[in-house]
Amino acid sequence: MNIKQFETEELAASYAFDRIAANLDNGAKVFGLATGSTPLSLYRKLSQSSLDFSRTTSVNLDEYYGLAANHPQSYHQYMEQNLFQYKPFENSYLPNGTNLEVNSEIQRYNRILSEHPIDLQILGIGRNGHIGFNEPGSDFTAHTQLVNLTESTIQANQRFFESADQVPTKAYSMGIASIMAAKEIILLAFGTDKAQAVRDMIQGPVSEDLPASILQKHPNVTILLDKAAASLLN
Ligand code: PGA
Repeated sequence: MNIKQFETEELAASYAFDRIAANLDNGAKVFGLATGSTPLSLYRKLSQSSLDFSRTTSVNLDEYYGLAANHPQSYHQYMEQNLFQYKPFENSYLPNGTNLEVNSEIQRYNRILSEHPIDLQILGIGRNGHIGFNEPGSDFTAHTQLVNLTESTIQANQRFFESADQVPTKAYSMGIASIMAAKEIILLAFGTDKAQAVRDMIQGPVSEDLPASILQKHPNVTILLDKAAASLLN
């Protein structure tokens, strides 16, 4: 693992931006994208840049089960608002939250992932060590799956909804095996809320109890931290 600590979130986002630009220069065709608060400064930089994604494909990690693409809290909307309206990709894929036929949606998304191998995957990390929506206990060999969100994830995401009972309790997520198949991975983590998960990811055992710990086994992963997220590292 390549671990970098920055004075500020903005500097970490600039580093991630430069890796994306370098990948584009080198002919990368597929970018794996994440949602949440963490990548917002990166997406702002991309949106304001002159980078051209119109010949590349994006695939997102996850989408809430049951939310339509036009629902204000769907990850489709998040991507549209924060990136795609400024930087259209040739093709952009997310799981379809309104496909309630789980097996067909899983097969559809796995097919998309096998047809579009990810050159660079952007990740955040949950307070419980999840990546994508792969919660503690997720099978390391899984591809796309429907996951039950943990209470801590539902609480963490409640801030985007009017009340906790409006937060979906399930989501489609790329599995750990799909994430690990990316050629390069960049994980960003900011703030003291993430410090324990960051420490366990880097210094703990590789265990399904802390899904992000699997990244210790990836040959090309860079962890970008602000001081607060790095504060519990030895
Ligand atoms: P956050 O979520 O960026 O909103 O903290 C990250 C995650 O849960 O993966």
